[in-house]
Amino acid sequence: MVSKIAVFASGSGSNFEAIAQAVQDGRIQNAEISLLVTDKDQVYALERAKKFDIETKTFLLKNFEDKIAYEKAILEVLSEKEIDFIVLAGYMKLIGESLLSEYEGRMINIHPSILPAFKGKDAIAMALEYGVRYTGVSIHWVDSGMDTGKIIEQDVVRVDKDDTYQTLAEKIHKVEHVLYPKVINEILNK
Ligand code: GRF
Repeated sequence: MVSKIAVFASGSGSNFEAIAQAVQDGRIQNAEISLLVTDKDQVYALERAKKFDIETKTFLLKNFEDKIAYEKAILEVLSEKEIDFIVLAGYMKLIGESLLSEYEGRMINIHPSILPAFKGKDAIAMALEYGVRYTGVSIHWVDSGMDTGKIIEQDVVRVDKDDTYQTLAEKIHKVEHVLYPKVINEILNK
């Protein structure tokens, strides 16, 4: 069976591209990325989708009465496209009850820290600020909390004394781009 994946992103989309590339190369098997969902227009993730000829849909919260209506519109498209699995990759909104009840156990997220440390936005900056010597990447199931779902896999990244936000973010992204495709392949083919 080929799983139909929707990736949700809000920004650059480097993880989305790493996953799309892995599907193309066969490192993620029995899967296709059927849709990229963004909550912003003019984000670079949308450009990356063109390269892979992946359909995109942008949903702007301000165009809906509330979050429930916003998620309802997303759910309609997911159902139309028969999406089996959701991969959050830099999607900056908390998942609401309607999306969650439909996709719980079929929706994962990646976070740039060793959870439960440094939940929420700016995890990389928080790790630098705190002065930890190791941080890393966590992939977890999505639940109703912010970065609180059950952990699936983690990997560590060393913070060197001379690391800046930029150098640490690059090291973390490099790990993410390998780990996320690997975990997605394992989940979809177990
Ligand atoms: C990644 O660091 C991810 O862990 C976090 O948001 C960032 C998204 O980066 N959730 P990108 O848009 O995939 O480049």
